[in-house]
Amino acid sequence: MSLDGSVERRRSEPSSMQQIGNGSNGIVNENGTSMMLYSPSSPQSQSQSQSHQRLRLNPNTDHNPENYEDLQLDYNPSIFTSLERYLPPSMLSVTRQLKVQYMSDILARYLPQGERIRAQKHREYRQKIISNYQPLHKELYTMHPATFFDPSFVEAINKNTEESLRNIISEPSPGVYTFKMLHPDFCEMLLSEVDHFEKWVSETKFRIMRPNTMNKFGAVLDDFGLETMLDKLMDDFVRPISKVFYPEVGGATLDSHHGFVVEYGKDRDNELGFHVDDSEVTLNVCLGKQFSGGELFFRGIRCDKHVNTESQPEESLDYTHEPGQAVLHRGRHRHGARATRSGHRINLLLWCRRYLERIRKGKAHAISRNSLLRTEIS
Ligand SMILES: [Fe+2]
Repeated sequence: MSLDGSVERRRSEPSSMQQIGNGSNGIVNENGTSMMLYSPSSPQSQSQSQSHQRLRLNPNTDHNPENYEDLQLDYNPSIFTSLERYLPPSMLSVTRQLKVQYMSDILARYLPQGERIRAQKHREYRQKIISNYQPLHKELYTMHPATFFDPSFVEAINKNTEESLRNIISEPSPGVYTFKMLHPDFCEMLLSEVDHFEKWVSETKFRIMRPNTMNKFGAVLDDFGLETMLDKLMDDFVRPISKVFYPEVGGATLDSHHGFVVEYGKDRDNELGFHVDDSEVTLNVCLGKQFSGGELFFRGIRCDKHVNTESQPEESLDYTHEPGQAVLHRGRHRHGARATRSGHRINLLLWCRRYLERIRKGKAHAISRNSLLRTEIS
């Protein structure tokens, strides 16, 4: 199992993260872009590092990276796949194991010891859940496109052209995309799995971490074994879309996710205040059940400095959820959810991020500090 979530939740000191870009372990090129330097921790990698201490400044887009999904890694396999494109040429021909070692050392170097301890604790937390929780639907834990998705969605992704995507996607407001995505049977299965997990939590009195500070109900799917499947969801089904529609936030290089469900209704959360997400791109899909209300409202995109400024009429969108229907938007697109007036509503959220890019920009601390938060807007 990989541990993207735990890595992302590592809280690190800004001073440590400064090292990534401009500190003693980084250099700045003529364009002012920072690079990471390699610091070996093993004799094997030490010998390799002597002549190749640096990562490439820009990714080698001609190189086809290896797949790391089958390995037990401390970081999301997608991060290794992304990072491999930055390896110096001589590292591309070494064994996969050596590449993993090399890249793990690079990644670990930028996490202070306190963070590594915290990450280790989170690994143990997940491991405790996974070794004790018995899944209800084992078929949910690996990706099965034919049974998970609406056929029109699978067909558009398989064709993988801008035209095929535009044929199934609507854009009700600039930057907000909606499309039919999840098969009703999949929604049903995930709802019953979450229910089963919540029952297990209640019976065992296991104290779980909720998805973020604004949702008191719901569960982090990555924490009870669904991380690999959700990685696949991001890699193969969200990234092809974000590559086309969100190039300005690096939609083609999303490499990390935080996957969870939120629950609204009686004895659950009621509404969600105006906020932005800690993601580059957010996928939000209603899973059901019967409900009224709960509309999403969008109010345009702003930078940090102007996040509280008024919105223009043309930026306003109110969207009514339908089970199986996905909404895709930038994390920075200001939004909220109206009160769920009756019934019970559960949504699947996938916050997709560019972890590697945040490290390169010295903003990894922003992920680790905010991964459990949504920034509320007054
Ligand atoms: Fe949100």
